[in-house]
Amino acid sequence: MNTFMKNVCLSAAIMGFGAAIVQPASAQSGHPSMNDNKILNIAHRGGSGYAPEHTLPSYELGDEIGGDYIELDLQMTKDGELIAMHDETLDRTTNGTGLVKDYTLDQIKELDAGSWFNEMYPEKANSEYNGLQVQTLEEVIQHFGKNKHYYIETKSPEVYPGMEEKLLKILKDYHLIRQNGPSSKVIIQSFSEASLQKVHEMNEDIPLVQLIDYKNNATITDEELDHYEEYAVGLGMSFKKIDEEYVDKVREHDLLIHPYTVLEKEDMKRLIEWGVTGMFTNYPDRLEEVLKEMKKK
Ligand code: G3P
Ligand code: CA
Repeated sequence: MNTFMKNVCLSAAIMGFGAAIVQPASAQSGHPSMNDNKILNIAHRGGSGYAPEHTLPSYELGDEIGGDYIELDLQMTKDGELIAMHDETLDRTTNGTGLVKDYTLDQIKELDAGSWFNEMYPEKANSEYNGLQVQTLEEVIQHFGKNKHYYIETKSPEVYPGMEEKLLKILKDYHLIRQNGPSSKVIIQSFSEASLQKVHEMNEDIPLVQLIDYKNNATITDEELDHYEEYAVGLGMSFKKIDEEYVDKVREHDLLIHPYTVLEKEDMKRLIEWGVTGMFTNYPDRLEEVLKEMKKK
């Protein structure tokens, strides 16, 4: 394990993230220094199982019910503002239509980013969600401050030239990245290796997680893992595509493994038993419960 990774694990331990879990034999024997690793509870788009994704109530809830990190997807407006939104288009999560990149922030701020949730999930509806505004990255950071942890994804970076530079400037302005990488309050994730490599070139202290979109069951070679280790601290992929052998292999290369998006407790438990080091979930409370149950045993 490189020094950086050891420190990431150490800082997680210091901060009391998650619960200590017995790791699979392969992880224990191969990498004893990872035995102290904790399971990171990553609130996917906030507590988005209960509130409209990427809104302040969703992030607040995710934080309150056990999330260690606020997961945040980035898109960029016509006038170059980074906003918290999953899709490249406004249609699904606002009452607007069209591409984010074709609208200014002022225009997007006019939209309602909460009512869709009440309409789609009447059993979870809350009148306070009506009329919620889209948030900029800066607004989220201003709201939650520098003591929270942010797991930020550069979405469609090829569509948004300069996205990485703007992101790093904001993180620097708000003192969320430190010279000592593991003390960083952020992890940056992307499906785009080019985007992560760009960030790495600008600041190699920032922990990076490479997301991988497997079409079929996940397999990975030692050469691929060696390559990822050169710039990333971990990997993320659909939990549905991996098995225990895959998890073992990633762990043997001292990389974190954070599968997405895990909703059911039985899946959470199985993944933890396989040795994952965290996971993205819309229900951080469920993961919290699973971690407590497993710690009791
Ligand atoms: O970032 C991890 C996971 O969120 C990737 O999938 O589509 O939900 O951003 P997506
Ligand atoms: Ca994401």
